[in-house]
Amino acid sequence: MEPAIKISQGISDTECYESLSKQLTGLFTKEDRDITNLANLAGVLKQSFDKISWVGIYFFDGDKLYLGPFQGKIACTSIDLGKGVCGKAARDKETVIVQDVNKFPGHIACDAESRSEIVVPFLRNDNSLYGVLDLDSTEYNSFNETDKIYLENICNFLAKEILKD
Ligand code: SME
Repeated sequence: MEPAIKISQGISDTECYESLSKQLTGLFTKEDRDITNLANLAGVLKQSFDKISWVGIYFFDGDKLYLGPFQGKIACTSIDLGKGVCGKAARDKETVIVQDVNKFPGHIACDAESRSEIVVPFLRNDNSLYGVLDLDSTEYNSFNETDKIYLENICNFLAKEILKD
């Protein structure tokens, strides 16, 4: 099936998320493999927001996080629970927004140009951790409560209704 997502230019983040949210139920299907759905998640977010310099998924294998599908420069292949922004979001099972990565103790700098970041956990129906979604920006203060609300909705939809493993 050919993916059909319409991405408008020059609209606010809220308008963009609203538009995407209505279309994502059609993009992601249970029939597709997890890695396929998550590759398209990285693609659709990167295509939709100019502020994103890197977007990707880290899977949780029960011990540590390991790199999954992403858009952007090559990145760290594995992250221990509790380490960096991803490890903190994974350990606490809560979204972490970092407005200035220089002020986050233990930030893992995969890209030296990264300035701000948001990491959202994928939590299954039983609240177990599937992995995390990581978005980076080369500008400070790129992510806020709007991103948190919409990205959590997307991750919840995927982890609770689409993803299998
Ligand atoms: N900065 C992240 C590591 C992953 S990269 O940004 C792709 C962190 O501190 O967990």
